Amino acid sequence: MLSQQELKQQAATAALEFVEEVAGADVVIGVGTGSTADLFIDGLARFKEKLRGTVASSTRSAQRLQALGIPVLDLNDVERMPIYVDGADEIDGNLHMIKGGGGALTREKIVASVADRFICIADESKLVKRLGTFPLPVEVIPMARAAVARQLASMGGRPALREGFVTDNGNVILDVSGLPITDAAALELRINNLPGVVTCGLFTQPGAHVALLATQQGIRRLSRP
Ligand code: A5P
Repeated sequence: MLSQQELKQQAATAALEFVEEVAGADVVIGVGTGSTADLFIDGLARFKEKLRGTVASSTRSAQRLQALGIPVLDLNDVERMPIYVDGADEIDGNLHMIKGGGGALTREKIVASVADRFICIADESKLVKRLGTFPLPVEVIPMARAAVARQLASMGGRPALREGFVTDNGNVILDVSGLPITDAAALELRINNLPGVVTCGLFTQPGAHVALLATQQGIRRLSRP
């Protein structure tokens, strides 16, 4: 029986096949954040001479990439990335996700938006029928914390401030439990539209293109329906 760590490793290794496919001297890869993304970064080291570089979705990932000698570029200097590789806290059959357990949701969404394809890597426990068991992270500008929390409560959620945590962008995170997520795409737009919200951890626009989910029987690959 493989441990969760071994399953994460399998998913991260599977994503390297996509890197192999697109690698080239002018190619930039988007890199996510989290324990599964960390394993992907470690594997990416063997491609460092075959790529122009990477764009990181967090300071944490940038530091790990740099420690391995993998170039990290400013997103402002990059026009195109064939793939963005990242984990998820939950993913459903439409390849919509909840992300932000590590608090990097905003930069993750920005980097992913520039990439042609989002490759989600996770162990199969992240696959859910319906999103919402994992509390939804929402990045909020500090002065709007209480106002946004009231709005989220009026939508049926129970927001809790992530204590002692400041995002790479200098903001706070509200982790929202109990939100009814019947239409994830509509809810993403509605929450993102609240004044003071930087972004919420729903990733539906467009979500992942491919999910590589590690199971005890090997990699299960899902593609966007
Ligand atoms: C980071 O902010 C998150 O979006 C992560 O991608 C997500 O929490 C998955 O992390 P793990 O790979 O550690 O489960």
